[in-house]
Amino acid sequence: MSARQDPIGVFDSGIGGISTLQSMVRILPKERFLFYGDVANAPYGTKRTEEVIFCVRKVVQHLLERRIKALVIACNTATGAAAAVLRSELTIPVIGMEPALKPASELRHDGKILVLATPLTLKQEKFERLMALYGRGAEKVPCPGLMELVEGEDDEGARAYLERLLLGRKDLDRVDAVVLGCTHYVFLKPMIRAMLPEHIAITEGSEGTARQLRRVLAREDLLNEDGPGEVIFETSGSPESLELMKRRMAREA
Ligand code: DGL
Repeated sequence: MSARQDPIGVFDSGIGGISTLQSMVRILPKERFLFYGDVANAPYGTKRTEEVIFCVRKVVQHLLERRIKALVIACNTATGAAAAVLRSELTIPVIGMEPALKPASELRHDGKILVLATPLTLKQEKFERLMALYGRGAEKVPCPGLMELVEGEDDEGARAYLERLLLGRKDLDRVDAVVLGCTHYVFLKPMIRAMLPEHIAITEGSEGTARQLRRVLAREDLLNEDGPGEVIFETSGSPESLELMKRRMAREA
């Protein structure tokens, strides 16, 4: 069997990465995907960089044993903390994610950009570099605790959190864009859209990541164009978290 038929390993600390997985399956329906939710070690976003690297290494080791042909880090936090380390250690292609600040900067008029992400993502050097390039008018908005509300399917809790965070701002009329810089928050997009004034654009990275994956696979001659298409879920968490992942996958973001 050629490497083209091997699965693509995708992981996150939980169900957030499924928003990215949905985009990838949409544009690469013939591929086999193996999604791993590291629920036992969630959240990543309030840990230290070294702790996240430690967790990520274990996940990647597991995925490599499954003979993956490429790795997608469907998590902004893990990308910021560990993508460079993984790229230096692995021979397969590694596709990471970053908050969609560049597209937001293109939609900006003269106002502000709010970057919602985990505390760890916003503390990374990688994010500072992104800010230096596209961060004019951008403000970091750390959201500790928000991923847990998504993981717990607590819509009312998430709504209250976001209302406090966003609607409490006096400068909302001067905000041009909101960046959803954590894959979990993508599931809150309809809620955030309904909450915010219409002039505010919302950007996130799932489509861009899926397109990047397709480009990389094509470049490496690893595209599977006639496979049956398949998605397998695995987790370090409970059987319930596995069910939650499958349920989330079946529900479009
Ligand atoms: N979904 C992850 C991200 O994109 C992080 C959630 C967490 O574990 O804190 O940043």
